[in-house]
Order: sequence, then structure tokens, then C-alpha cells
Amino acid sequence: MPDGRTDNPQLIALQTYLNGLDKDEGSLIVALQRAQELIGYLSEDAIFMVGQTLNIPVSKVYGVVTFYSFFRTRPRGKYDIKVCLGTACFVRKSPAILNELATLLQMEVGTTREDLKYSLNTVRCLGACGSAPIVQVNDDLYANVQVSDVAGIIRRYLD
Ligand code: FES
Repeated sequence: MPDGRTDNPQLIALQTYLNGLDKDEGSLIVALQRAQELIGYLSEDAIFMVGQTLNIPVSKVYGVVTFYSFFRTRPRGKYDIKVCLGTACFVRKSPAILNELATLLQMEVGTTREDLKYSLNTVRCLGACGSAPIVQVNDDLYANVQVSDVAGIIRRYLD
């Protein structure tokens, strides 16, 4: 990739998008957002391409990527688990659910496991406060979750 050529269709699409932008720092955030949409995360190749195309030092691009929490530098796991820590869920003990998930999956909150099977993150309200606490796994929503339910939920996502 350092020579600017690639066979990766996502990177080709990104390059096409970047070519239409103003080549300055004002385009950086929107370029990174588009890269993340296309690829699912900000790979080294994508970050390099953004910096090179917009004439921004790659170190500066990395600085922006690491500053904003909505940018990811690793792919999401096959199962993207989110535990709501919004007020309604928090007071109904969602932090204990989060801890149980982290323990059973043997991973840190806010990370993707090395085998890329699970990501475990928190969110601030999933819009279902009346059924708190809420856990989401990909498109599946679990309501009124108790700590004792966590192992059963995980069992649905073992393959
Ligand atoms: S606070 Fe958790 S769904 Fe609203």
C-alpha cells in the first residue's frame, strides 16, 4: 500500500471518495468517518491513504483517530456486544452485567477479543429504558437482563 496502489475494493472506494474532497485538514474527520463506514474500522492502510491523499502527516491523522472515541483501529468482533450504562439501566445494575460479560468472555471492556469473536462496549441509552437493563448483541436486544442471564445469552453466540 505505501506505493498508493491496492486491489482491496474497500480501499479503492475510499480512494475514489478521497479524490473528491478538498485536500486539507478540513476534510479529515469526514474522510475518516467514510473510511470507517467502508472498512468497518480504520486500518493502517486506510489511515495512510487518508493522510497521503489529503496532504496531512500520518502522525497527525493518528492523533485525530486516537482522540475521538468513535474511531476504531481494530475490527469489531463477530458478535458486537453493547451494555447500556444509561441512567435507567445503570440504576438497575447494568455495571454488574457488564462485569459478568467481561469475566465470562475473558476480555476487557472497550476492546475486541484477539480471536475477533467478541467486542464488548458500553452505550448511553438504547432507547428502551422501560425494559432496563438492556444488552444488545449485533441486532438482538435483550431486556430486563439479570446477571444470572448473562451466561445463557453468551451461549447463543458461541459459533
Ligand atoms: S438507559 Fe438503557 S435503554 Fe435507556
